[in-house]
Amino acid sequence: MGERFENVPNHVAIIMDGNGRWAKKRLMPRTMGHKAGVDTIKKLAIHASKMGIKILTLYAFSTENWGRPQEEVAYLMNLPKIFFKEFLPQLMEYNIKLETIGDIQKLPQKTLEIVEETKLATAQNTGMILNFAINYGAHEEIITAVKSIAESVQQGEISPNEIDQDLMSRRLMTGYLGEWAEPDLMIRTSGELRLSNFLLWQLAYSEFYFTDVLFPDFKEYDFDQAIRSYNQRQRRYGKV
Ligand code: FPP
Repeated sequence: MGERFENVPNHVAIIMDGNGRWAKKRLMPRTMGHKAGVDTIKKLAIHASKMGIKILTLYAFSTENWGRPQEEVAYLMNLPKIFFKEFLPQLMEYNIKLETIGDIQKLPQKTLEIVEETKLATAQNTGMILNFAINYGAHEEIITAVKSIAESVQQGEISPNEIDQDLMSRRLMTGYLGEWAEPDLMIRTSGELRLSNFLLWQLAYSEFYFTDVLFPDFKEYDFDQAIRSYNQRQRRYGKV
């Protein structure tokens, strides 16, 4: 049984960074870092679900990642195929539901099929939501939401005065998460201090946790450290 925390965040988001450097340190190709990262994802998803976290959002592939060497992109695009097949029994065992944000229609057909099948297979699970950001970028997300709101105005469904934070939040890709759409805690591994176009709207009041640990090495113990740090914070939301 893991450590018990007084304050378990509802929604944790992770920028899984440092796979390439992890592999390089071992004189292995970058793709081996992603492979190791996948094992970490499995461990963290189970651990987070046992802890009572309701949403775990993982940044797996950004709209900018298409610019990586073709071989690496191909590897990353294929990974979900193996991953979700292997992981499905545990998703069921731990009652975890798979969801995604980002434009997954751009994934290779086979990969898309596995993602859709896994979503369907886990749709009735009532425990933690494992929310993968795949081909996701916050700028694109915000533009898409703004366009959809503009269309609603043009159709006469709403007036510009009715555009508020709540409406915007619902039109974003995380809208389906309702009151839990905004992460309580955002973790970035590998020592980089950037947001890299991740959940720009939703992270407005989140607590941030940065660690030098490279993602493949970021296991249950390290996750607990982040939750412990979160437990020491006082969230004021702009108040005193
Ligand atoms: C960042 O490390 C990591 C990524 C860009 C990819 C993360 C993706 C996975 C771990 C797998 C996704 C799997 C599924 C099932 C959707 P980096 O390559 O930027 O590392 P570096 O900064 O050391 O080069």
